[in-house]
Amino acid sequence: MNLENISKEFKKKGENIKVLDNINYNFVANKMYAIFGQSGSGKTTLINILGLLEKPTSGNYIFNNARTDKLNNDKICDLRKENIGYVFQNVELNDYLTALENVELPMLINNKIPRKERKEKAIELLEKFGIKKRINHFPKELSGGEQQRVAIARALANDPKIILCDEPTSSLDSKNTKRVFKILKNLAEEGYCVIVVSHNELIFDYADVCLELENGKLHEVTK
Ligand SMILES: Nc1ncnc2c1ncn2[C@@H]1O[C@H](COP(=O)(O)OP(=O)(O)O)[C@@H](O)[C@H]1O
Ligand SMILES: [Mg+2]
Repeated sequence: MNLENISKEFKKKGENIKVLDNINYNFVANKMYAIFGQSGSGKTTLINILGLLEKPTSGNYIFNNARTDKLNNDKICDLRKENIGYVFQNVELNDYLTALENVELPMLINNKIPRKERKEKAIELLEKFGIKKRINHFPKELSGGEQQRVAIARALANDPKIILCDEPTSSLDSKNTKRVFKILKNLAEEGYCVIVVSHNELIFDYADVCLELENGKLHEVTK
């Protein structure tokens, strides 16, 4: 995932604010990246651009060797479904579906995996993250940590290449935070490109690369 001269501006009260200012960065597989920066520094904007949920004002975003500004909306949708797993701050599981059904849902939407395999795969993912006994529970019957692990399992359902997490541990205690970071680190070791926005300092023990977003610029920091 290569960002080339990426800028993003928003209009606020008639004024243009440059949130991302000419960012160049190449995110590669097999690594866990931590992105931090003050509130309002543009972390979510950057994650949304990486996740093909928002377009930059200028610059090229190269995904899978393709210039994303040249792709139509259908193609962008396919890229998202097939390559990107999202883990959001407020978890956003479907309250009316069980843990198992939540993980099955992206596979159902992608419609490439037969029903039986879909279920087996969802169970396997939930087991991997320690939710085995709770697969038939609804989100409200699960703890915050369990819900976020279900969300990670869901993000992996379609075998993405990249996992984007926007403050995934902000509602978790430190024990669950460490557990989530450890899971994400293991996924990077398995070969995924894992990008995590977080202001929890615990992430420094897990991330391979730490990046700070400051005044619209992204720079690497040494741990
Ligand atoms: N859709 C939008 N319209 C206008 N301003 C926006 C929009 N999205 C974000 N911003 C502004 O861009 C800045 C960065 O926001 P954001 O990326 O959410 O920062 P962070 O996630 O680091 O807190 C903020 O000043 C915010 O108000
Ligand atoms: Mg944010």
